[in-house]
Amino acid sequence: MEQETLIQTEAPVRERRLYIESYGCAMNFSDSEIVASILQEQGFSATSEETEADVILLNTCAIRDNAEQRIRERLKHLRGNKKKNGDLIIGVLGCMAERLKEKLLDEEKLVDVVAGPDAYRELPQLIAEVEDGKRSINVLLSLEETYADIAPTRLNSNGVSAFISIMRGCDNMCSFCVVPFTRGRERSRAPESIVDEAVQLRNQGFREITLLGQNVDSYLWFGGGPKKEYKQLTPEEQASSVDFADLLEMTARAVPDMRIRYSTSHPKDITEKVVRVMAAYPNVCNYIHLPAQSGNSRVLDLMNRNYTREWYMDKVRMIRDILPDCGISCDIITGFCSETEEEHQDTLSLMEWSRFDFSYMYKYSERPGTLAARKYPDDIPEDVKLRRLQEIIALQNRISNEKNQEYIGREVVVLVEGRSKRSEHDWMGKNDQHLVTIFPKEHYKPGDLVRVKIHKASTTTLIGTALGYAQF
Ligand code: SAH
Ligand code: SF4
Ligand code: F3S
Repeated sequence: MEQETLIQTEAPVRERRLYIESYGCAMNFSDSEIVASILQEQGFSATSEETEADVILLNTCAIRDNAEQRIRERLKHLRGNKKKNGDLIIGVLGCMAERLKEKLLDEEKLVDVVAGPDAYRELPQLIAEVEDGKRSINVLLSLEETYADIAPTRLNSNGVSAFISIMRGCDNMCSFCVVPFTRGRERSRAPESIVDEAVQLRNQGFREITLLGQNVDSYLWFGGGPKKEYKQLTPEEQASSVDFADLLEMTARAVPDMRIRYSTSHPKDITEKVVRVMAAYPNVCNYIHLPAQSGNSRVLDLMNRNYTREWYMDKVRMIRDILPDCGISCDIITGFCSETEEEHQDTLSLMEWSRFDFSYMYKYSERPGTLAARKYPDDIPEDVKLRRLQEIIALQNRISNEKNQEYIGREVVVLVEGRSKRSEHDWMGKNDQHLVTIFPKEHYKPGDLVRVKIHKASTTTLIGTALGYAQF
């Protein structure tokens, strides 16, 4: 008996290896760092080699059908690894897990664990259940979970820039969008925990943070609990509440030597107060991602975006009045239900008028269960969607190229992130407006803030030479 106990205590605890792959938006990449932290506590160590892993987790996206198809292909490929290692556990996390739930376990038997975005604290138990031969799923959404107390384990980090989630979920119900169904109700995270995370990152040597939320402009903290609108708060709650502009200011002051970015702004909610904070703090980057989705008010109404073309234009004007040098980028969807040729032209003319620095552009992809899927036929033929998409891409490329040429001869401030993909002799970083900038390395190093004179520009990149170190 004695002997047995001894053997058991001395047997080494097998360290298990976790391989985690992320798809979709920055929030998913940020969540993977929370997942890694939770599992690290349980003795897992992260590996970047999928063949070495005991547990493989795919943190998935459901935003468009092709995002899900990619994951299916990946899961089929990973089945091969299972043949080599019979104990390998494969899990699906994130938005596709939340959307498909049990179906993922049943359909093709590709997956052992399914966990939705609010169930990550349960992952150690879910993995243990699989080891006991049970089906393992948790897709409960929460009204409160923000993982505020979990210090993320930075994965694939360049050691320079990091994401901080400031809120979760979305309450907007844009008719095309699956996010409210996969991420649940909107909830904000305590401001102190956000500022603490920023300070910790600074102490670890990071130089840039990006505050993340699906709609940062509706961030509101008044002591926790389910979300309320500002006007629903009691006078005491109002007095102590923190909105996004307040949070941005608190963070800018707490880490004056770090660059601060944020994403995503919503045109219906963005305020002058936020833009004024950007103007007042030089360490807050002059860059706003402001998705328009369409340039036509009827289509915007069908999309349930709650603003018109004119409202959007007013917001762009307001930003440019306060911050003339602000970079603005956009998301556009082409071929939304019933979009006419004239309405598509309105999108092109809005892009021409706004002169976005760059845009993310997509063909409409109907998502089951969304308002649009239930109410409007997906009636724009594939070839028309594609042609419209090509038109907006061509226009955006032209505008990006023209705008980037205007940088030639100018000086920009770049935070060095790492090696340029094209040449080991060059650094790659971003300027204030989030444009990729390349310059010869000389004595500079990642994390340096460098003044760079631009002498060449393409649609996506500025190329220059360093002039010296920069200050905010
Ligand atoms: N919260 C952000 C967007 C998150 S999703 C916002 O409100 O702008 C990122 C982008 O994916 C969206 O801006 C939209 O352009 C695109 N998208 C979302 N659902 C889509 C769908 N069903 N088909 C095509 N593109 C979609
Ligand atoms: Fe989706 Fe709209 Fe929410 Fe953005 S704001 S995540 S597009 S529902
Ligand atoms: Fe995709 Fe979910 Fe983000 S659907 S875009 S990973 S919130």
